[in-house]
Amino acid sequence: MIYLDNAASTQIRQEVLEIINNELINSFANPSSPYSPARNSRLAVDQSRKIFADTLNCKESEIIFTSGGTESDNTAIKGPAHALKNLGNHIITTSTEHHAVLHTCNNLEKQGYDITYLTTDEFGMVSKDDVISAIKPNTILISVIYANNELGSINPIKEIGEAIKKLKGNNSQFPIFHTDAVQAAPFLDLDVNKLGVDLMSLSAHKFNGPKGIGVLFMKNGTPFEPLITGGGQERQKRSGTENIAFISGSAEAIKLSENEKTVNYDKCLFLKNKIINHLKEQQPNVLINGHPKLNLPNMINLTFPDIRSDDLISALDLEDICISNGSACTSNSLEPSHVLKAIGMDADLALNTVRISLGRNNTEDEITQFLNILDKIIKRIKDNKKEFIRK
Ligand SMILES: Cc1ncc(COP(=O)(O)O)c(C=O)c1O
Repeated sequence: MIYLDNAASTQIRQEVLEIINNELINSFANPSSPYSPARNSRLAVDQSRKIFADTLNCKESEIIFTSGGTESDNTAIKGPAHALKNLGNHIITTSTEHHAVLHTCNNLEKQGYDITYLTTDEFGMVSKDDVISAIKPNTILISVIYANNELGSINPIKEIGEAIKKLKGNNSQFPIFHTDAVQAAPFLDLDVNKLGVDLMSLSAHKFNGPKGIGVLFMKNGTPFEPLITGGGQERQKRSGTENIAFISGSAEAIKLSENEKTVNYDKCLFLKNKIINHLKEQQPNVLINGHPKLNLPNMINLTFPDIRSDDLISALDLEDICISNGSACTSNSLEPSHVLKAIGMDADLALNTVRISLGRNNTEDEITQFLNILDKIIKRIKDNKKEFIRK
C-alpha cells in the first residue's frame, strides 16, 4: 500500500504502541484512587502533561487532555462562549475552518450568538487586518485555523495574536484567541507564547499517535464553563477517568514528532516538490490550489479539470494507493467541499479536486511508483472519455 492521506490520519508509531501496551497493562489503576498503583497511573498522566507543556512552552496546569481534535475545538469555543454569555455574544471565525469549529459556531448561532464567518482569499487564508477590523465591543472569541486541512495554507497566527494582544492592552480579558493546530502540529512552531494564542487544539492521530485523544492548551485565567462535568478531573475542566495509556502514547508521539520536525519537514517538502514538478510537466492543465509558499510541506491540493476526483481515487485505490478528495469527514458527501466553495472554486472543478498528504513514512520510491501509476490512470481515463465521446 502507498498511503498518501496523512492529513486524514497517520499510522501509529511502534514506539508509541509499546508505551500504550505497557501502560494498559501496568497503569490500570484509576489515577484518582488512594493507593500506590494509582500513584503510578497519576505519574504517567503528569509526565505526559509535562511533555506537552514543554512542547507548547506553557504551564502544566494549562494542558487539558480530551478525546481528540473535535472535542478540543468544541471545548475551546463553547467553554469561553458559555462563560462570557452575559458580557458578549460575538465570535469571529473563518469560512475555511474544519467542521469541528464551523459546526460548533453554527450550533452557538442557534443559541443566539452572533458569528462572523470571515471570507478568505483565493488560498483560503485570512489577513490580520480582516480579523482585527471584524472585532466589535462585544467580541468574546476569535478562532482561526493555523494550517488548513484541505489546502495546507498557513494563516498568520502570530501576527493576529500580536495584534489582538495590542488591542486588548492590560485591561481586557477578551477577545480570547483560539487556533486549531491539528494539521499544523507535525510541521509548524507550537510555542503558544510566540503565537500569542489563549487556546490551541491538537489531535494525536495527526502526529503518529493514537486516535481518540487530543490536547487543548488553555491559558490560565481564560473564562471557561466545562462541557463535560463529573468527577472534576483535568482541574474541573474536563471530567472523566483519564485515558492513561493513550495520554502517555500521545506524549511519546509529540516528543518524537518534535525531535524529527525539521527532518520530516524537509523530507515531505522534497517529495511534495517532486510530485508538483512532475505534474506540471506531465499534466500541464492541472491546477495547484492553496498558497504556493505559505503552505504545509506535506499537503498538495490539485484539480484535474477533466477528471472526476471519485474516478481517480477509485482507480488509485485498485492499485493500493490512498489519496482523498478533501477532508476525511466530508469525503463521503457529494457536495463540493465548503473550503473549495469558500475560495471561490467553481462547483464542477471542486468535484475534480483531490488532496495528497504526505507523512514521515513516505519514501521517494513510493512517490516514483505513485507518479508512474497516476500518469497511466489519467491517460486511461482520458482515452475512455474520448472513446465514449466518439461513440
Ligand atoms: C484541522 C482539523 N481540526 C480538527 C479535526 C478533528 O480532529 P479529530 O479527528 O481528532 O476529532 C481535524 C481532523 O481531520 C482537522 O483536520
